[in-house]
Amino acid sequence: MNGLYENEMRLEFASKSNNEAFARITVAAFASQLDPTIEELADIKTAVSEAVTNSIIHGYENSEGTVKIISKIFANTIEIEISDTGKGIENIELARKPLYTSKSNLERSGMGFTIMESFMDEVSIESVVGLGTKITMKKLIKKQEHQEDEKELDMAELGGR
Ligand SMILES: Nc1ncnc2c1ncn2[C@@H]1O[C@H](COP(=O)(O)OP(=O)(O)O)[C@@H](O)[C@H]1O
Ligand SMILES: [Mg+2]
Repeated sequence: MNGLYENEMRLEFASKSNNEAFARITVAAFASQLDPTIEELADIKTAVSEAVTNSIIHGYENSEGTVKIISKIFANTIEIEISDTGKGIENIELARKPLYTSKSNLERSGMGFTIMESFMDEVSIESVVGLGTKITMKKLIKKQEHQEDEKELDMAELGGR
């Protein structure tokens, strides 16, 4: 599958909650080459933050581990993969449900996956109990403007003939 994407970055860090800000800022810096709006950038940061927090709190349950992020840019879409080799999710369908949390005693909101789904265009969850979890999210940047640009380009081409 070489050559399908235009740019890629990989990041690995210890599962410490103070790395959560580092992760979201780094992904935002990588995403900024797509020239996103402030709002699109905020959506990406929030989604990354939720997924990374889940790996730290649920995947590793605050024990030592490594969180890995791979991000790719294809045309005007950013794909972000966040994975851990922690405990895994038993029931993915249940975990995705709004308000579901396995840690209600810790005052978790159970809204992490719902937030990721509302801020990103696509969210997929792969998980194997005992092996870990991988969240893949995609977001198309500047849908309107790119469509407008294409239209303008088409018009320019027509005008030139
Ligand atoms: N990386 C992960 N590893 C293991 N379990 C996870 C992971 N991410 C999410 N989960 C499970 O999915 C549930 C729902 O996640 P989420 O919607 O973010 O709610 P919350 O984090 O508030 O519990 C969690 O309570 C947890 O049981
Ligand atoms: Mg969460």
